[in-house]
Amino acid sequence: MELNRRTVIAGAAAAGLAATTLGTGNAQAATGSASGRKPVKEPFGKLADGTKIYRWSLENGGTRLKVLNWGGVVQSLELPDRHGHYANVSLGFDNIDDYVAKTPYFGALIGRYGNRIAKGQFTLDGKSYQLSVNDGVNSLHGGKQGFDKHVWDVEPFTKGSDVGLHLHYTSVDGEMGYPGTLKAKVTYTLTKHGDWRIDYEATTDKATVVNLTSHVYWNLAGEGSGTIEDHELRIAAARYTPTDSGLIPTGELAKVGGTPFDFRHAKPIGRDIRAGHEQQVQAKGYDHNWALDKGITAKPEHVATLRDPRSGRTLKIATDQPGLQFYSGNFLDGTLTGTGGRTYRQGDALCLETQHFPDSPNHADFPSTVLRPGQTYRTTTIHTFSA
Ligand code: BGC
Repeated sequence: MELNRRTVIAGAAAAGLAATTLGTGNAQAATGSASGRKPVKEPFGKLADGTKIYRWSLENGGTRLKVLNWGGVVQSLELPDRHGHYANVSLGFDNIDDYVAKTPYFGALIGRYGNRIAKGQFTLDGKSYQLSVNDGVNSLHGGKQGFDKHVWDVEPFTKGSDVGLHLHYTSVDGEMGYPGTLKAKVTYTLTKHGDWRIDYEATTDKATVVNLTSHVYWNLAGEGSGTIEDHELRIAAARYTPTDSGLIPTGELAKVGGTPFDFRHAKPIGRDIRAGHEQQVQAKGYDHNWALDKGITAKPEHVATLRDPRSGRTLKIATDQPGLQFYSGNFLDGTLTGTGGRTYRQGDALCLETQHFPDSPNHADFPSTVLRPGQTYRTTTIHTFSA
């Protein structure tokens, strides 16, 4: 049976249970002692040029989050299992040098454009732009030095029962080839229920394209604990966007029905991952954008559920975005050593990136990613946890 965090907290409070009954995290939530506590800052090494990097620790409603001012990286996200035992469920490193030199976007904020833009080229209002190319001939996650490879200004806050961080980064006109000075603000909030909410905002002084996301690598059994193939995943999408060999959408919105891409009912990720569908062979697993049934919505709506049956840890994702990139950690190859001292191998984590579709600037029939002066880009994704 799945225990909902809210039920546990409410039940515990009503019964006046002793803190220890529920394990540390839920106990704190039950007594409310974690709510409103100010995030704590500590040093996390230096960049080669001497710039100091910091790690912020936040805790609320039983969820523990550690965030770097480097790339807005979620360096650790700890959740209790059904017995109250904590594990860090997000892949990462224990030092800044590895984040700078080796990271495949572990936990990072992605900008200006999540996923790929074909040949790093697009045309907007009759003008052609050439972006920084960093994935074969294509531009991936904003180019060579995307938002994940910058120092962000971090401002902690407590607001009512919420705790969080405001992260700011200004990308100058022409950075990585993108037009317009883009002022980005991302807010990470931990609610009293332990939900992790991300609010993205951006403005520009010239017409541009933008598609921000978060690149957490989830393993709900704990980072470094092995494969995620037994995690059960549900995605509320009847269609996905097949790709060419460079992982650029062909433009087709293909039906998932009767293919390994059908996650409309929860199934273990490993069930069909070796089915040999040409789209999987090409991507070495799943690395595709699901066109969410709900499309763009004014408010975040529940679109995906990920569950680790062993620990009971469950993640629910709600978003206002039209797409979800499910990447099954295909390029992890055993060469990176993570936070807990273990190496990460193929399929040891998965990403669920809420987004607009990849390469939208080159597909007039995909939802638009254009942002113009005077407009504010705003999008929200909420991660809800239970066990
Ligand atoms: C992409 C993968 C890419 C990975 C980088 C994902 O968002 O879809 O193709 O390899 O990011 O680690």
